Amino acid sequence: MTPPPTGSTSRIGRSLPVTVRAAAKINLHLGVGAPREDGFHPLTTVYQAIGLCDDVTATRHGDADSDSGSDSGGGLRVVVGGSDWIDLDAVPTDERNLAHAAAIALGRLHGRELEGRLDIEKAIPVAGGLAGGSADAAAALVALDRAFDLDTSDDDLLRIAAELGSDVPFALIGGTALGTGRGELVESVADVGTWWWVLVPDRAGLSTPEVYRHFDKLFPDAPAQPPEADLLLGALRTGQAVSLARTLHNDLQEAAIDLRPELGGLISRGESEGALRGLVSGSGPTCVFLCESADHARDLAGALIRSGHDNVLVANGAVAGAHLVKDHA
Ligand code: C5P
Repeated sequence: MTPPPTGSTSRIGRSLPVTVRAAAKINLHLGVGAPREDGFHPLTTVYQAIGLCDDVTATRHGDADSDSGSDSGGGLRVVVGGSDWIDLDAVPTDERNLAHAAAIALGRLHGRELEGRLDIEKAIPVAGGLAGGSADAAAALVALDRAFDLDTSDDDLLRIAAELGSDVPFALIGGTALGTGRGELVESVADVGTWWWVLVPDRAGLSTPEVYRHFDKLFPDAPAQPPEADLLLGALRTGQAVSLARTLHNDLQEAAIDLRPELGGLISRGESEGALRGLVSGSGPTCVFLCESADHARDLAGALIRSGHDNVLVANGAVAGAHLVKDHA
């Protein structure tokens, strides 16, 4: 993961907003083992970043003052906006927001408080199994690092990311990656394909801890070692969607469907409408459908809309991790 270069000119004194984009993730393979002593589950997962993104703009105190007098009171202000079908009320703006927590952690590393404003523009559904909050945290780390001229090393960014949440390091590196540990140890893997996905988010989110707890109830004898991803990693190297379709795997799917039975019907519907495979993304409730091509994905999205699903998205992967899209300097 290479954060955008800060350049040789110091930004101090200019302190203009910086916008960073970070992508949603889906899990192509999610192997889950029995809970560890710390309560987390050991994972073998393959993440893919897809073209459904949130933008985070970091503004240092001073610029924020000129935008709005209400920002001049010190500290960090988080403002959340986004697509009208997203439940923005469910996004906290205090320290429970992972982007806000990212600012505190980054400030602590550099021994200072990062005073200013974070504007989060959301397109990734909340509590959808797509790691939207983790994407915001990763984008905030990179945007704040540049806006405040902190020059944080990649190792420090990845370490803070891992402390913030299991999916945050992946949101920094993007692409397609193998995740181990509790998901926070990430390593890019070979992926020669362009993969087309149809996504069907649910208006009501699912709680990740609740889905993991339900997994423990359904599978009290889960092995300590999660199922490996070798077949899927092989399929990624073929570039063939039919091969990838055969190897997609999610150990949390049964728990998610047990908690939200209509997801089972949605997956069957998508597959009967021609998807190569449908599965729950991560802990759900978003369901994703693998298609042969962009045209195939658009056709499937149309069929799902006609069958009554009003919010259907098309995205491809793999895309980049958290990256600069606008430096207002
Ligand atoms: O790491 P993160 O904060 O995203 O995890 C949210 C919750 O999901 C954890 O508190 C835990 O309940 C569950 N989880 C887990 N095992 C993992 C990752 C997450 O049990 N590997």
